[in-house]
Amino acid sequence: MAVIGVIGGTGLARPDGEWLALDGAETPYGPASAPILGAEHWPDVLFLDRHGPAEARLLPHEVNYRANMWLLRERGAQRVLAGYAVGGIAAELTVGSLVLPHQIIDYTWGRAHTFAGGEGVAHVDFAEPFDAGLRQALRRAAAAADVHVHDGGVYGCTQGPRLETIAEVDRMANDGCTLVGMTAMPEVALARELALPCAAVCLVVNPAAGRGPRGVSSLADIGRVVSAARAPLTRLLTAAIPLLQEDRS
Ligand code: HPA
Repeated sequence: MAVIGVIGGTGLARPDGEWLALDGAETPYGPASAPILGAEHWPDVLFLDRHGPAEARLLPHEVNYRANMWLLRERGAQRVLAGYAVGGIAAELTVGSLVLPHQIIDYTWGRAHTFAGGEGVAHVDFAEPFDAGLRQALRRAAAAADVHVHDGGVYGCTQGPRLETIAEVDRMANDGCTLVGMTAMPEVALARELALPCAAVCLVVNPAAGRGPRGVSSLADIGRVVSAARAPLTRLLTAAIPLLQEDRS
């Protein structure tokens, strides 16, 4: 059985129950967002909160993605499941939708985005950023848990922390993006550099700029979407973990 590293964010909170910090968050790349958590009732699952503890929430450009991924692997993760809150660009990806993205376009800049030069392999193949076997496991889990997911999505990753202009979202739509978020990159690429297969679940928490009613959704609105998604996401995660852990050799 493989050890799964779950990276939670705004959209994917850790399931209820007692979680204990495994140990420190220091790495050769600086501190990770938080210590990794483990729970007796989730054997072989390591949980890391991408944005850190509530009292020190890290913005997307402040997250130490290298430290997070390095620490997960160091503590034994063999596969990664990442959760993201996103804005919906494609019309069918309405607020509350769950999406299993299959592609990424990276619009970020200035982030520490590679291990290359240190321990990473420089020119990793990233044609398919998400692992096909893990995506299939998520689809099977969604069907078993009776949770509706959109299979496939192109995640456009912006720098933030501001939201996008309408013209930027129009350009992203022209580029082929169906979702916009701020945290999948360099996270997913770093997983690839460390040879950790990765899949993701995105929760649409607002229509992207110009794609819905005018004005940015308030934090309270987003909180309501996240709360409403908690039950289906927990069902999905509960069904997914054993499938993601299955031996695939
Ligand atoms: N844009 C970028 N990142 C996001 C959004 C958005 O509209 N919603 C949630 N994360």
